Amino acid sequence: MFTFRENVSLFPYNTFHMDVMAKYFSEINTIEDILDAIEAHQLEKLSENGPLILGGGSNLLFTRNFTGLVLRIGNKGIEAVAVGDESVFVKVSAGENWHEFVLWCVDHGYGGLENLSLIPGNVGSCPIQNIGAYGVEVKDAFYSLEAIDLKTGELKVFTLDDCHFGYRDSIFKTELRGKYLIWSVTFKLRLNPVINLEYGAIKQELSAMGIQNPGISDVSKAVCNIRKGKLPDPEVIGNSGSFFKNPTVGLKFAETLKETFPNLVSYSLGNQEVKLAAGWLIEQCGWKGFREGDAGVHESQALVLVNYGNAKGSEILTLAHRVQNSVYERFGVKLEMEVNVV
Ligand code: FAD
Ligand code: EPU
Repeated sequence: MFTFRENVSLFPYNTFHMDVMAKYFSEINTIEDILDAIEAHQLEKLSENGPLILGGGSNLLFTRNFTGLVLRIGNKGIEAVAVGDESVFVKVSAGENWHEFVLWCVDHGYGGLENLSLIPGNVGSCPIQNIGAYGVEVKDAFYSLEAIDLKTGELKVFTLDDCHFGYRDSIFKTELRGKYLIWSVTFKLRLNPVINLEYGAIKQELSAMGIQNPGISDVSKAVCNIRKGKLPDPEVIGNSGSFFKNPTVGLKFAETLKETFPNLVSYSLGNQEVKLAAGWLIEQCGWKGFREGDAGVHESQALVLVNYGNAKGSEILTLAHRVQNSVYERFGVKLEMEVNVV
């Protein structure tokens, strides 16, 4: 049954710790909850510009009170739906916590997601920006998802090709933005895991842990250790992870830049394209560790903007614009925000 509350604080529901209000707020735990709402035209009635779907609130920056309806997705369930010789297909409800699901896979010996350990948020959000870390993206283990059309209530299946996954991107951030509620995701996982140590820091961490023949559980632990050392814990300091994407530029442009800035951190993507480390660009502009009031740039990871306590979303956004402007002035590179600003 669809029920909602009025004037609800979103403070507990976002990792940037923004103390804003939602005019209407509903917990969606069963498919009937959302289908009832669609049938009774509640989504349009309570939200002129469409509802805001909320997972773990770890990739959002609230800059104002939300005057419409927030749908907090809490459906649960993890099920191995088919097993082949080499793969297992696991269907997971959108409201499951991502990291707990990754640990479930590791415990069952199902390989493919261990490099994505400790990413905050829920399973339903993982396809939105095709979450990625330590040499793996969710698309690498993605099989399909079910999503509810917010206009008609129809449950539609999206395959890997349908999702148009890219770096921190999918069709749900572009053409279909705001149109679907992702209800479950099915992953194709390996029964005989193949370890991915492409990202150098994992090898170093495993060797520091004294592990020579790592299994997926070791990789998961190594990734957790690296992440804990590098990224601020949102429980302690408000943040939404990397605030900006790492920009992609043409090879020629990168080469010219490297003549002026020989220490430029870059990675070849092949096809005449190069990815630049936004953290390095921001640090070179002197922002690392910057703080004004309670809004700041993290002292050990310049790509992460932080709220030390009582910063407003608008202050974080102003800081983000200042960072973007200075990187553009110095390097001629435009930084695109990764975080969803509301
Ligand atoms: P939310 O913040 O709740 O929502 C994000 C977006 O998805 C919003 O636009 C929302 O409307 C939409 N949405 C959410 N659920 C649904 C749904 N069921 N259907 C349709 N739309 C939906 N990201 C990475 O990729 N790699 C990292 O390594 C990484 N590290 C991080 C580290 C920290 C400390 C933090 C705070 C964040 C990090 N992130 C990282 C970003 C974040 O964890 C991911 O983007 C995550 O997938 C967000 O999940 P969420 O449930 O919190 O989404
Ligand atoms: N760097 C600096 N200064 C900094 C930060 C980084 O010089 O303050 C340089 C370093 O040279 C470093 C390089 O940037 O070697 C890359 O840094 P890091 O390995 O920390 O990764 P990142 O590019 O900053 C990306 C993702 C993270 C993901 C990690 C690990 C993006 C936008 N960010 O960060 O994802 O966890 O790689 O794979 O792609 C997120 O999306 O929220 C996120 C945290």
